[in-house]
Order: sequence, then structure tokens, then C-alpha cells
Amino acid sequence: MSFSSNIKIAPSILASDFSNFGAECKAIEAEGCDWVHVDVMDGHFVPNITFGSQMCKAIRPYIKTIMDVHLMIAPVDPFIDAFVEAGADLITAHIESGPHIHRTLQAIKSCGVKAGIALNPGTPAASIINLLDLIDLVCVMTVNPGFGGQQFLHSQVKKIKEIREIIGGREINIQVDGGITRETSPLVAEAGANVLVAGSAVFNGGSVDKTDVYGKNIKLIRSAAEDAAKALR
Ligand code: DX5
Ligand code: ZN
Repeated sequence: MSFSSNIKIAPSILASDFSNFGAECKAIEAEGCDWVHVDVMDGHFVPNITFGSQMCKAIRPYIKTIMDVHLMIAPVDPFIDAFVEAGADLITAHIESGPHIHRTLQAIKSCGVKAGIALNPGTPAASIINLLDLIDLVCVMTVNPGFGGQQFLHSQVKKIKEIREIIGGREINIQVDGGITRETSPLVAEAGANVLVAGSAVFNGGSVDKTDVYGKNIKLIRSAAEDAAKALR
């Protein structure tokens, strides 16, 4: 997973058919997504439970691109090995998941996978300042984590810009996660995000038998973001 600042679309399989994860991963990749975003939730850190490392292992053979694992769990450390073993390319932990986030990121990096840090809407941009040498990605939550299909939090656009400033020229991706649609993708791209997670905006209206809807949705989100990012240059 090498760094590049161009716009990447990472559909979240939280919005896909839970009885058909393998086929859904294959479908979104065939329809042009860049990464597959996997939302792991423990019912403790967030008020919802989804799936764990075994499910990640099961879908790994269907993912040719990047398996981007978003851990909405606390604690994180006891489970890092299992997600590495499951084949995660990138593991993102929440900065709010415990008092020793620096150690968590060290542990992820020591396993040879990319490390991301996720910030809930209430967490300030400055909290990443002492972690810049350890991270490959910052995930700005643009909803409160736990569910798909929520409304985009416009208050987070300013935070994306602040993070863009803090990162400077470092090869660190800025990911946004929650409420990303063709309407909101230009706002986040303009602010400096380059990895856009989208669940409902990609999967709604489509199915493994109607995958062209996925392709159309991915293209709409991507082109709206690229047009906005182009205007920046
Ligand atoms: C929320 C998850 C998001 C969510 C995105 O806790 O981290 O990835 O699935 O879903 P949409 O795009 O529908 O807001
Ligand atoms: Zn997510």
C-alpha cells in the first residue's frame, strides 16, 4: 500500500449484504473501488456489534486491493495479531480506545502492516501531533461511529483542514468516514481528504445481481471529489 495523494474510494461493507460478503467484495472491486473498508465493532467502544477477525480472514481471498480494517473496539492491543493474521493491509485504531495509543500504533507497525489513527467527532486535530512518525493514515470520523446511513457532520470539515496543515508534506493519508456521498465528497476533498469511505452511498440500490449500481455510485462520488480537488491545484 504505497502512498499517493489521488482520490481513493473505499466502500464500507457495513452497508453490504451480510449474507454475501465475499461476493460483495468481489463486486465492488470489479466496479472500480480502490480499497475495501471493513468496520469491526465490539458493542463496547461503539453501541453496535458487527464482525471480527475471522470474518476478515474469510473475505481476504475475495479482496485483491487493500483490506482497510477500521477497529471500533476497546481495548485494541489483544486483537492486533488476529487481524494481522486475517490479512489486514491497514489497521486503524481509535485514539479514544485507550490510554496507550502510542504503544498500540507501535504494535501494529511492528507486525509490518500499515497503521491508521481514527478520531471521533469530539476529538481535536492536535491530538495526532505526537503520533505522526507512527501513522500512515488519519481517519476523520464525519459521523459518530457505530452505524451507517447517518448524516454527515459538516463541523468536521474544519478539522480535516487542520489535519492537512499538521501533516504538511508527510506521506500520510487523510481518510474520511461517514455520510460521504456525491454531495459531501467535494467538501472533504477540498479540505484535503484523499481516501473516502462510503457505505450507503455505494451499496444502496444495488446488489450482487445489480453491481452496475455500485460502479455508477463509485464514479459519482469519485468524480465529484476529483473535480473539487483539481480546483485546489
Ligand atoms: C461508522 C463506520 C462507517 C460507516 C459508513 O461507524 O465507521 O464506515 O459504515 O457508512 P455510511 O457511508 O453509510 O455513512
Ligand atoms: Zn469505518
